[in-house]
Amino acid sequence: MPMGTAITRMLSVARPATRGLALRRAGFVTSARSSTGSPSSLENQRKTTGVLPPYAPVGVSAALAAPSSGAVKPTLFEHEFTMTDRVAMVSGGNRGLGLEMAMALAEAGARAVYCVDLPKQPGEEWTKVKDYLNRMEGKPGQRRLEYISADVRDQEQMWKIGETIGDREGRLDTCVAAAGILKSITDCLEYPAKQFQEVMEVNVNGVLFTAQAAGRQMERFGHGGSIILIASMSGTVVNKGNNWISYNTSKSAVLQMGRNMACELGPKRIRVNTLSPGHIYTHLTAAYVDPQPHLIDHWSSLNPLGRLGRPDELRGVVTWLASDASTYCTGSDILVNGGHHAW
Ligand SMILES: NC(=O)c1ccc[n+]([C@@H]2O[C@H](COP(=O)([O-])OP(=O)(O)OC[C@H]3O[C@@H](n4cnc5c(N)ncnc54)[C@H](O)[C@@H]3O)[C@@H](O)[C@H]2O)c1
Repeated sequence: MPMGTAITRMLSVARPATRGLALRRAGFVTSARSSTGSPSSLENQRKTTGVLPPYAPVGVSAALAAPSSGAVKPTLFEHEFTMTDRVAMVSGGNRGLGLEMAMALAEAGARAVYCVDLPKQPGEEWTKVKDYLNRMEGKPGQRRLEYISADVRDQEQMWKIGETIGDREGRLDTCVAAAGILKSITDCLEYPAKQFQEVMEVNVNGVLFTAQAAGRQMERFGHGGSIILIASMSGTVVNKGNNWISYNTSKSAVLQMGRNMACELGPKRIRVNTLSPGHIYTHLTAAYVDPQPHLIDHWSSLNPLGRLGRPDELRGVVTWLASDASTYCTGSDILVNGGHHAW
């Protein structure tokens, strides 16, 4: 059907009051002056780019559809990047990168962020972050940090936790699988089976069980969702001089797990991406480099920025991946490593 005919049909069935909205939702504009050359009909628009979010249009489409005078509001942080009313689950959320990312999601407006970690009670850092979020300005009912003690290696327990969150909140939108362990340097030809298995059980099985726990709830509620698996640049490159075969192998597995899950879950609008940090200074890395300060200089020299990263430097990327700001991103690995991979 020619473009003009399709638009005319659409307009003729729409009541006058809803015409402008229908056109705006379809990414169309209402006057020749602001024509975008956008797709040819509402149906085509849906088939081509999917259902638009309730706050559409945004960006250039919004500018072109807007009346020619009067104040307008920015949408980028109000809508696309916001986590308002969303519910998230973060494994390894008691400290380190998990806690930093849990806090970022809460700060971005999430209703509740469930941190799952091993200790029976959350640590002092977690408790202080919860208190800080409680004191942060915002709408009532936002930014609730919750703690659940569990072992990500226990599939049944993880699925149950997902169900409990789903039952309590009526939704589960975001999952960050950040629980992970690193064992001491050991030569590959001598690597003991037990130690190798221990790393795989947390870094591979545990990541899968966490992603399953959340993905099953995302499927249950039918809103789609975003699953972020924390891999590492060590899944793609070897950290020169560090014989970490179990860790690096486990992170490669997470990269492929992410691509696999993305392909299986895409039709359910569940996005799955991996986030691969470089050398970030956390408890995990401090335990390793603090007793050997020359390693800090060495690791710093391995990237163009000449330093280690800070956990807070993952706040933006996790919020982007979790929110509507990344709705066309799935099956990707996002490297955040100071350019370590660039040379
Ligand atoms: N710090 C870095 O430089 C760096 C770089 C790349 C990737 N990563 C990855 O980021 C993630 C977080 O690392 P981090 O530096 O914050 O480490 P961290 O040790 O500070 O935090 C890891 C958390 O995972 C939890 N955990 C471990 N085993 C668990 C289990 N069986 N069940 C539940 N929770 C468990 C720990 O209790 C801890 O709170 C890990 O997957 C790590 O491999 C870290």
